[in-house]
Amino acid sequence: MAPLLLFLLVSVSLLPHRSISESDSYISSTITTKGLSFAKDLLISQAVDSFVPIRLPVIEKSVRIPFVGEVHMKVSNVTIEAVNVSASDSRAAAGESGIVVVASGASAKLNLKWSYWYDSWFVTVSDEGLASVQVEGMEIGFTISMKNENGALKTFVTECGCYITDLAITMDGDASWFYQIFVDGFQDHITSSVESAITQKITEGAEKLDSLLQSLPKEVNLDDVAFMNVTFMKDPLFKSSSVDFYINGLFVSSERAHVNKACQVSAEDSVFLSDASKMLWISLDEAVFNSASDVLFQAGLMNWVVNEVPEQFFLNTKTWRFLIPKLYKKYPNENMTLNISVTSSPSVMIGVGNIGATVNSDLIINVLDGNKTVPVACIAVVATVSGYVVVIGNEIVAKSELDDFSLVLKWSNIGNFHMSLIRGAVRTFLKTICIPYLNSYLRRGIPLPIIHGFTLEGAYILMPNSRVIIGSDVTYNNSIAAPKIRSFVYRSKY
Ligand SMILES: *[C@@H]1O[C@H](CO)[C@@H](O)[C@H](O)[C@H]1NC(C)=O
Ligand SMILES: *[C@@H]1O[C@H](CO)[C@@H](O)[C@H](O)[C@H]1NC(C)=O
Ligand SMILES: *[C@@H]1O[C@H](CO)[C@@H](O)[C@H](O)[C@H]1NC(C)=O
Ligand SMILES: *[C@@H]1O[C@H](CO)[C@@H](O)[C@H](O)[C@H]1NC(C)=O
Ligand SMILES: *[C@@H]1O[C@H](CO)[C@@H](O)[C@H](O)[C@H]1NC(C)=O
Ligand SMILES: *[C@@H]1O[C@H](CO)[C@@H](O)[C@H](O)[C@H]1NC(C)=O
Ligand SMILES: *[C@@H]1O[C@H](CO)[C@@H](O)[C@H](O)[C@H]1NC(C)=O
Repeated sequence: MAPLLLFLLVSVSLLPHRSISESDSYISSTITTKGLSFAKDLLISQAVDSFVPIRLPVIEKSVRIPFVGEVHMKVSNVTIEAVNVSASDSRAAAGESGIVVVASGASAKLNLKWSYWYDSWFVTVSDEGLASVQVEGMEIGFTISMKNENGALKTFVTECGCYITDLAITMDGDASWFYQIFVDGFQDHITSSVESAITQKITEGAEKLDSLLQSLPKEVNLDDVAFMNVTFMKDPLFKSSSVDFYINGLFVSSERAHVNKACQVSAEDSVFLSDASKMLWISLDEAVFNSASDVLFQAGLMNWVVNEVPEQFFLNTKTWRFLIPKLYKKYPNENMTLNISVTSSPSVMIGVGNIGATVNSDLIINVLDGNKTVPVACIAVVATVSGYVVVIGNEIVAKSELDDFSLVLKWSNIGNFHMSLIRGAVRTFLKTICIPYLNSYLRRGIPLPIIHGFTLEGAYILMPNSRVIIGSDVTYNNSIAAPKIRSFVYRSKY
C-alpha cells in the first residue's frame, strides 16, 4: 500500500500559490481526478496484495436442535485467500477532508475448517470438514486524510467501512443435515468478522503508509552541491476534483552554509490548470530556478578556464594579431587560455512561452609565457541566453542559445583595444565553446521530487509568466518499489 500514497505525496506540486506566499511555497502540484483514479488503482492493488491471506479468529457456538439436543460447533482456520476489486467499480475523489476511495462489487474467497460434536445416548457424535465461502457484493470505503506535521505529511484513515451483501457457503463432505444449521449459525459471524478484518487491515495499511511517508527524504539532490528543500508548507488542499500540495521547493547549498533568501514572488495570480486530461500538474516558480542558479554560483561552479578547444589555433596570440595587435606585439605566437568567471548569480526569467537568463561574467585573457600564466586583459561580458525546457524522465532538461551580448574592457596590461574588433571572435567563442558547455550541464537536468518507482509520461510544459507548469501522466514500475502481486486478481482499466 505504501508506495501508492507516497506518490500522492511526493509528486510534489510545484504550484506557486500566490495566495500563500507568506508560507514560501515555490512548488505546488495538483493531482487531478485522473491522477487520483490512477493512485486509487495502485493503492487498492497494493493494499489487497498486502493483506491476503488474512487469518480470522476461531468462532464457536452451541445451538439446541430438537431431537438431537445441544450441538457444539466451531469454525477454525478461517482464511481470506483472495480479494477481487474491479478498477471500473471503484472510485477515488477528493472530499472535504481527504481522498475518498470507494470500491463496490468486490468479492472475496474464504476457506475454513468446520466441526461439530454432540452427545447422543452414551456416545459423542462428531464430524468435521472443510468449507469454502464466496463473498460477493462487498463494498469497501475509506477516507485518507493528510495533514502537514513539521513540514512532512501525516497520513491517517478517518473513515473506513466494509459491508457485505451476499455470502455463499459451500461445504464438502457428507454433512447435508448440518448445512442449514451451520449457515444459520455462522453466516452473520463470518460476515461481521470479514468486515472487521478488512476494516482493520485498511487502517493498518494506512499506518504503514504513514511511517513510510515520514521516512521520505525531505531533500532532492542536485549534483552533490545543492538539494531541493522538499518541506511541505501547509496542509494539502482538498478540492472537489483535485488535491493540491505545497512545498518549499527552493534549492539550498549542501553545505548549508548559505541559506537562500528567496526572491520576491510577484503578487499576480493566475488560473492554475488542473484539467483532468493529465493526472498531475506541477508548477515551479521562477524562484526555484533562481535558487538552483544561486547555489551553483555560490559553490563556485561557474568558473571555467578554457585551454583546449577543437581548433587549437584559436588559443594562440597569432590568431588575434589583427584583432588585438598590441597583444601579438608583446607576446608573439604564444599560447593563450581564457578564464571565464560568472560574477553574479545568473537571474532566470520566465516570460510567457520563454525562459532566459542574463549572465554577467569576466573574461580574462591569459598568455602562457613559458610555464607562466600571465593575465593580460579582462573583459566584462554580459550575455543574454534564452532556451526551452522539456521533461525527460523525472527531470527538467533545458537547452540554451545565445541571444545577445555586450563587451566592456575592464582592465588591460597591453593598452586599450577596441571591443568592436573582437566582437566576432568572442561571438564564435561563446557560441561554439561556451553555450555547448552550458548545454552539456543543463542536459543533466533538474530533478523533480517524484517518488522512486514513478515516472512522468507524456509530459508537456506550459510557461505562463514567471512559472513553468508541467502537465503529465504517471507510470508506476511495480518491480522497482513493490512486491509482486500474488494471490489476487486485479482488473485494471489502464
Ligand atoms: C489452514 O488453512 C490453510 C490454507 O487454507 C492450510 O494451508 C492449512 O493447512 C490449514 N491449517 C489447518 C490446521 O487446518
Ligand atoms: C476474481 O476474478 C477472477 C476473474 O474475473 C475470477 O476468475 C476469480 O474467481 C475471482 N476471485 C474471487 C475471489 O472472486
Ligand atoms: C526548508 O524550508 C523551510 C520552510 O521554508 C525552512 O523552514 C527550512 O529552514 C528550509 N530548510 C533549509 C535547509 O533551508
Ligand atoms: C601551444 O600549444 C600547442 C597545442 O597545445 C603545443 O603543441 C605547443 O607546443 C604550445 N606552444 C608553446 C610555445 O607552449
Ligand atoms: C580565473 O579568474 C578568477 C577571477 O576572475 C580567478 O579568481 C581565478 O584564479 C582565475 N583562474 C585561473 C586558473 O586563472
Ligand atoms: C617549465 O617547466 C618544466 C618542468 O615543469 C621545466 O623543465 C622547464 O624548464 C620550464 N620552462 C621554463 C621556460 O621555465
Ligand atoms: C522496471 O524496473 C526494472 C528494474 O529497475 C527494469 O528492469 C524494468 O525494465 C522496468 N520496467 C519498465 C517498464 O520500465
